[in-house]
Amino acid sequence: METMRVVEPKESRGPYALTVDVQDGIAIVTFDLPGESVNKIGRAVKDEFLQLADRLERDKDIRGAVLISGKPDVFIAGADIEEFLTLETAAQAERLSRDGQMLIDSVARMRIPLVAAIHGACLGGGLELALACTYRVATDHPKTVLALPEVQLGIIPGAGGTQRLPRKIGLRAALDMILTGKNVRAKKAYQMGLVEELVHPAILRQIAVQRAKELGNGKRPQTRKERGFMDTLLDGNPVGRSVVLRKAREETLKKTKGHYPAPLAALDAVAAGLSGRRAHGYREESRLFGEMAATDVSRQLIYLFFATTALKKDSGVGVPAEPREVKKLGILGAGFMGSGIASVAVQQGTVVRMKDADHARVGKGLAAVRSVLKERLGKRQITRQQMDDTMLLLGGTVDYSGFASVDLVIEAVFEDLATKHEVLREVEPLLKPEAIFATNTSTIPIGRIAEAAARPERVLGMHFFSPVHKMPLIEVITTPGTSPEAVATAVAYGKRLGKTVIVVNDGPGFYVNRILFPYINEAGRLLEQGAAVDAIDAAMVAFGFPVGPMTLLDEVGMDVGAKAAAVMHQAFGDRFAPAGAIDRLVAAGRYGRKAKQGFYLYDEAGKKGAVDPEVYAVAGAAAERTEIPAAEIQQRCVFAMLNEAARCLQDGIIRSERDGDVGAVFGIGFPPFRGGPFRYIDSIGAATLVGQLEELNSRFPGRFEPAERLLQAARR
Ligand code: NAI
Repeated sequence: METMRVVEPKESRGPYALTVDVQDGIAIVTFDLPGESVNKIGRAVKDEFLQLADRLERDKDIRGAVLISGKPDVFIAGADIEEFLTLETAAQAERLSRDGQMLIDSVARMRIPLVAAIHGACLGGGLELALACTYRVATDHPKTVLALPEVQLGIIPGAGGTQRLPRKIGLRAALDMILTGKNVRAKKAYQMGLVEELVHPAILRQIAVQRAKELGNGKRPQTRKERGFMDTLLDGNPVGRSVVLRKAREETLKKTKGHYPAPLAALDAVAAGLSGRRAHGYREESRLFGEMAATDVSRQLIYLFFATTALKKDSGVGVPAEPREVKKLGILGAGFMGSGIASVAVQQGTVVRMKDADHARVGKGLAAVRSVLKERLGKRQITRQQMDDTMLLLGGTVDYSGFASVDLVIEAVFEDLATKHEVLREVEPLLKPEAIFATNTSTIPIGRIAEAAARPERVLGMHFFSPVHKMPLIEVITTPGTSPEAVATAVAYGKRLGKTVIVVNDGPGFYVNRILFPYINEAGRLLEQGAAVDAIDAAMVAFGFPVGPMTLLDEVGMDVGAKAAAVMHQAFGDRFAPAGAIDRLVAAGRYGRKAKQGFYLYDEAGKKGAVDPEVYAVAGAAAERTEIPAAEIQQRCVFAMLNEAARCLQDGIIRSERDGDVGAVFGIGFPPFRGGPFRYIDSIGAATLVGQLEELNSRFPGRFEPAERLLQAARR
């Protein structure tokens, strides 16, 4: 076996990303980007690829090639986005896309067959490259996923993806991937015809080499399996295709509400490829790629992508501290949140003991975990065997048996200080001295809870959001007494659960709920003033929130919301005074969805209907609905939130604007295309914002006084 370099290393450049081993006339190209955890395609790598292709072409002894990754769980993660950020104009981005197309085209045109051996993530430019290969073998492994995630960054596939994918797997399947950016698992990719073969990871290389040999000896690659009737009907002819494209456009508009231009641009690029000459499709793809790259939306989405990537590498503490491994977790309270936390923990392989007051409640908690797993089984994301194995990690108890060996306790009992103190006092003496006690309280300051602890340095907050298995954020809350090691452990474990973690300082409502309440309160005031429930919700959805504040209250529970609002009011005074309307609804038992009675009507099955016409009278709102313009509703609710976010930063609750943006987007659903509260403040301009806040404050004294930090920024 011989190892060759693509080009001789020069002093100025580090080690190379591509190395080649030649075996019996087959070149095995290993992609292993030096100094990085994943393979990305940047300028330097492109040059290497071009030189390699040229060299393989000229070597007459080589009959075929295999492209494989040297990284453990990544094939190719896509283009180098950092490089992408250096582009300033649409024209520059367009040129980048043309270059990418050319590179991949030169691979597609190679004399010798090229086999992509795919294990791990095969994303964006990685998938575009794989599509240009002659044959694709993928591992049947959970880490192997294929996707064109570009629209999630506000751009579109720019290296031929919008052209090659529909030809490979058919129009409808391709649109499903391109317009959502979603991950496709290996098995599904095989069924769709996206890869030709599935193998066990242990034999990936061997099979890929064998296929390259066979293809090199003139065997024709096996083509895509027969298409089904619907595929032929809809994908196979111009009329069917135009129906599919039109429907896709309608659905995309409905989903994006006009806030995200990239999926529509991707659709145009796909359509161009189907309608005209080949070159036309590619040109349109590049042109639209350039156009999208220059949008503000893509700038914000890429900012958020980098912010979350940076958080993944952030230990959460300023000083060096080693996180302890959490092998076993104890959960106090098997209710809604406790069981939710248990469901994500067992899926990550943690042994979990869940404690509640009696057997019935423990049983209910265990059943709740099971139903989360069942949902995954139903979607074929796990097998029955995996579900059973996972459930074996979970045990329930009504005493604290098994807690002596837990590394971390997460407390999710009732939101009541006395109860929290009681369980802390009970459990602490039973724990290992180094075990950590994390509370999932949503409003009680961690410092207050820690007062009952013998080892307050091991007490902190781990604030999950509901539903736990879906919401991507955790706030880890520290007190001045929390040890760095405890923080590092909670942060590392939160990440292991697959969540984005921000570390915040202790204070009522921490960060996420603190900025949420001024927004909710303002919505309540608008209601009292005569705005219609659905008008308030519609205005905020139009702004870009996933649901409006009234629907949110119905979902969370009006009683839960009102209780927390009262805590916040007590802590911060008038600025947080809740609207009396909500308390009146609670008094009338209108708790929202769970009571089948809230702002909206719910049927027996709990399905949401129209606004309940009686709600205005019960809430004591103005008798007549008054038309309040959507722009005013948006301004009042959102500005209250922005102003509080600025206060959280000036008070040291959050460490950075970055954390504030990520927390609001992932915790509340602040519109991602606006980048988060701080990016949105930037886009309005601090001086403009302060002016408008002052105007609002003169109309509604005390509620909109600009935060000191905004005033300072406005003066600059
Ligand atoms: P829940 O009422 O569903 O569950 C609480 C559970 O704690 C019940 O099963 C109860 O029997 C159990 N419990 C009470 N006293 C206990 C004791 N001494 N020992 C053991 N178990 C005991 O409440 P939920 O919604 O799960 O809330 C739990 C905590 O999570 C609260 O602090 C809440 O503020 C917080 N939280 C709630 C969120 C939500 O959306 N519901 C979101 C984030 C935090």
